[in-house]
Amino acid sequence: MAPSNMVSSITRERYAELKADVERHTRLYYAEARSEISDLEFDALMRELEHLETEYPELRTQDSPTQRVGGEAIEGFETVLHRIPMLSIDNTYNAAELREFDARVRKGLAGEKPTYTAELKLDGVAISLRYENGVFVRAATRGDGMRGDDVTQNARTIQALPLRLQGNPPVDLEIRGEVFMRTPELERLNRLREEQGEEPFRNPRNTAAGTLKLLDPKMVAQRRLDLYVYDIALAADRPPASHTETLRDLEHWGLPVNPNRDCCTSIDEAIYVCNNWDRRRRDLDYEIDGMVIKVDAAAQRLRLGSTSKSPRWVIAYKFPAEVAATQLLDIKVQVGKSGALTPVAEMAPVKLAGTIVKRATLHNFEELAKKDLRIGDTVEVQKAGEIIPQVLRAILEKRPLDALPFPIPEICPVCGSETHKDPDGAFLRCLNLACPAQAKERLGHFASRKAMDIDGLGPAIIDQLVDRGLVHDPSDFYRLDAAALTALERMAEKSAANLLQAIEASKTRPLSRLLFGLGIRHVGAHTAELLASNYLNVDALMIAPEVELSEIHEIGEAVAGSVCGFFETAENRALIERLRAAGLELTEGTVAHDGPRPFEGKTFVVTGTLTRYSRDEIHARIKALGGKAASSVSKKTDYLVAGESAGSKLSKAVELGVTVLSEADFDALLGGAS
Ligand code: IVH
Repeated sequence: MAPSNMVSSITRERYAELKADVERHTRLYYAEARSEISDLEFDALMRELEHLETEYPELRTQDSPTQRVGGEAIEGFETVLHRIPMLSIDNTYNAAELREFDARVRKGLAGEKPTYTAELKLDGVAISLRYENGVFVRAATRGDGMRGDDVTQNARTIQALPLRLQGNPPVDLEIRGEVFMRTPELERLNRLREEQGEEPFRNPRNTAAGTLKLLDPKMVAQRRLDLYVYDIALAADRPPASHTETLRDLEHWGLPVNPNRDCCTSIDEAIYVCNNWDRRRRDLDYEIDGMVIKVDAAAQRLRLGSTSKSPRWVIAYKFPAEVAATQLLDIKVQVGKSGALTPVAEMAPVKLAGTIVKRATLHNFEELAKKDLRIGDTVEVQKAGEIIPQVLRAILEKRPLDALPFPIPEICPVCGSETHKDPDGAFLRCLNLACPAQAKERLGHFASRKAMDIDGLGPAIIDQLVDRGLVHDPSDFYRLDAAALTALERMAEKSAANLLQAIEASKTRPLSRLLFGLGIRHVGAHTAELLASNYLNVDALMIAPEVELSEIHEIGEAVAGSVCGFFETAENRALIERLRAAGLELTEGTVAHDGPRPFEGKTFVVTGTLTRYSRDEIHARIKALGGKAASSVSKKTDYLVAGESAGSKLSKAVELGVTVLSEADFDALLGGAS
């Protein structure tokens, strides 16, 4: 370590300036939803900061932006005693109850008229944040209101949470807010989970709560939680005079405050605002379950006081629950492409949150047994996560006398072979690879848009092709002719010709699409791209040893094992040969053999979100000009093409001195090249 007198005042100044810059841009981005610099520029600042801290470790403090994911995994959480209890709030469910609240408030204020703030009630996890001298020192969950869990290390990973406050905050400050997850982030996580063959998370609230309680801060950082603060519980020397002032102060100190809030001079106005948000809540990219109405003036709050459970100056208004009752007409058992048996509820159509619901997955037989849903039951359905309908429970008082528990299927409803329970999960599977239901699912997946994209090859056609024995595996699609197709139901000559053309066109799809389409376990669209861009043709991939595969960045042992297992199986190798014989290209991107090859010998890595190209397209361009597209940055990389939100690959490239190109730079290079 360099002794502190070695750190020149210039370095110290540069360090302070950098730190302030990074803090400012983080605040603008996460608390104010705007940005003044590009991601690339931000990353460069961050890297310089990291570099200075490595050179001069004594500069680094706990509140440095580099220290968000500092902590190691822990065994459990410490308990924290809240200095000010975290009370709950009373709920109301309609306008009349809100008016009763207003009447109680006015009575408590001896007729004085209160002003209210109406805020969105975020559906997340309550959190208490403590700052000492403007530096973040502790985060605790609500727990039982008196004692919560110390989740400081996890909270530090939330980018919206400032590690150091701006301006002149009180020396001892305790703030209350809500940690939540935005819906697009939940969707992103679920896409990843799907690719890994994991069950998706069902709603953002539970995901946020579960994430905050993970024992490894590194995992927490990967799931991007968000934060809005809404109250000052304790401000040592200067308590705010009103809620409006509180929110303004919080904003001034750089904390994220939800901009959606209204000042209301009467309860009627507050009711209007509540109804308005009930209608508009679906426009938000996070979930709210109601509104919170608060008396604004601190002096009035003091006069109103609290009961043992909740303050008298605040009330929650819960939006009408989006639950409907309907009849469970049948439970169908579906067989997925990997043989998983899924019970699906078929219900009498019912209107729910603006759409008609008549089917809902029951996920698996364990869950079905737990809920004990029976055909003939009247059931309650709910829109969970605002998107997927969920069957909540059976209304037992309405159960018909003869309704029987749904039996766990011992045989596959389609092929009749014995079912097996997954050793490590709740799933029941049909293990017969020749099961027509599985075959149909697999064939449908092969033809789907993200895979081989064969337009016109939908379930109705596939059903007939399999049932007539015309198609057993994907290679059979390529042997179909007009005569076979026009013999199918609802297939005129024109559609048959179109379908044949679509099948023909699919022969040139890049290897990544084929790999995804083959439905290899654990190989989602992204993994397929990684494999294809590393091996470029199916022959190289087929002989790749498992260890080599698992060394590819983002490819773990489970994926490597599954890919090797797939290609070791004789039937699968035979299928590849049949596809080859049918004329499929089986390579990633077509190489322009006769065109100029200005990228000859150059290795490119592409990262981040591109606006002008898909991954496949840019890889194809690189290869067409003689270059190689790799998936991880190493000393051998010549260029990194970095799109929006580029992360670790970009840092690595800069570290190794690899030339970094923006998408526009890449285009410019192409312009000069082709
Ligand atoms: S104020 C003593 N404001 O709702 C008053 N709470 O059901 C403290 N919540 O525990 C609460 N958004 O976790 C307040 N804008 C908001 C809120 C909010 C969500 C949560 C909070 C509270 C729960 C009560």
